[in-house]
Parts: sequence; structure tokens; C-alpha cells
Amino acid sequence: MKTLFVALDFKTEQETFAFLDKFEGQSIGVKVGMSQFYMSGPKIIEEMCRRGHEVFLDLKCHDIPNTVYLACLQLSQLPVKLLTVHTLGGKEMMQAAVKGVEEGPYQPQILGITQLTSTNQTQLNQDLGISGDLQSSVIHLAQLAEESGLAGVVSSVQEVSQIKAATSERFLSLTPGIRMQTNATNDQKRVATPEQARLAGADFIVVGRPITQSSDPVAAYQEFIHQWKGSNN
Ligand code: C5P
Repeated sequence: MKTLFVALDFKTEQETFAFLDKFEGQSIGVKVGMSQFYMSGPKIIEEMCRRGHEVFLDLKCHDIPNTVYLACLQLSQLPVKLLTVHTLGGKEMMQAAVKGVEEGPYQPQILGITQLTSTNQTQLNQDLGISGDLQSSVIHLAQLAEESGLAGVVSSVQEVSQIKAATSERFLSLTPGIRMQTNATNDQKRVATPEQARLAGADFIVVGRPITQSSDPVAAYQEFIHQWKGSNN
């Protein structure tokens, strides 16, 4: 619990392993996203587990229920801890995802993507054509995810306390868009520090570029862990 997952958004396998080599002997949480998985396939997951890392496979599945069921059945053959599906795929699709992992050997927990942290209010209303405010949409999608049997959701830190209030105690919360006050926000619109994530009650955080693009990734990782774990560190 309280894992920090480093988002491995690299362009090549070489870059990925050059980064992971710096953490040799350390067990860290890593987030493998679409680019890594499309580039290297399942073998990259096996290698990361062999190195002792805990894997969050963030493929954000979103398709018709039967296709998502089959995808999740395949993905649960891999030794991963967490998987993601889009809550905007609806209840039936999320239930199909749960059925898929339940039939596999590893049974990773599934988290639902609510609204991406790169989405802001204007984009929600104008580009996606979804009326209402962003927070209400996130809360609604979190409740739908819980009703569908998902283990938790992904959201920005700003929504965590409201999600926790609107769902049961064991419903998990993972938050990307994490930055130190001195970091660039990049393309993220709703950012928060690791301490703010902890105080809001997040169960997991994802940190990408502030660690992967740092001149000293190991030191940057330690700094984020320190703030994330607080006095328990
Ligand atoms: O580099 P950065 O810290 O912004 O990376 C955040 C990671 O979290 C990226 O891999 C991105 O795909 C992922 N993510 C996100 N917002 C979500 C879900 C996942 O930024 N709602």
C-alpha cells in the first residue's frame, strides 16, 4: 500500500532499462503505459518483475464489453498489481473487465480512469460535450466504478476527498499529476504535491517526468518518496 509508481514513458526499451539500472537492487513501483507495452509487449513486464519491481499496467482499456473482457483475461496472465480501464466505457464494460481478471491466475486490481488529469473544465464541456462541472463528473464515474466492482479509481488529488466521501472506505484512489512546487507542470492541468496527495487520502501516486527527466532520478525519487510517506518514511 501507499506505493509510488514511476511512469516509465520512454521512447525506447534501452532508455527504459538505462533508467531502471540506476535503481538496481531497489524494489520500486513502476507504471507501464501504452507506449512501453506496444513497444515491448508482455516480456517487459516479466523482466520488471524479475528485477523485483511492482508493476502497474496502465493500458486504459475502453471498448465493447466482450473485447474488454477478453483483454483483461489476457492481461491477468501477467504478474501485475494494477490494471486500468476507462469508466466512460460504462458499467457493463467495467463488469466485463472484472470478470476477465477473475478468470486469470494473477487477478490484478482494476482501477477506473475517471477524467484524465490533462482535461480541464472547458475541454470537458466544449470538446467532449459533457455538461456540468468536472468534479461532479469525476464523482459520478467513481460511484459507477464501485457499483461495477472495480477496486478504485484514478483521479486528480483535487477530487480524492470527495471520492472517498462518496464511496466505501476500501475503495482505492490513485493520483497522477504529482509535482513538487518547483517542477514544471508540463501538459498536466490539475497538479498537486506528494504531501497534498497524502493528506487528501490517496492510496497510490504516479510520478513521471519530474523523476524520469531529472538529472539525478534516484535522488528525485527519494525526495518524492520522502514527501509521499511523510513521517512514516
Ligand atoms: O510525467 P507525468 O508525471 O505527467 O506522468 C503522469 C502519468 O500518469 C502519465 O503516464 C499519464 O499517462 C498518466 N495518467 C495521467 N492522468 C490520468 C491517468 C494516467 O496523467 N488520469
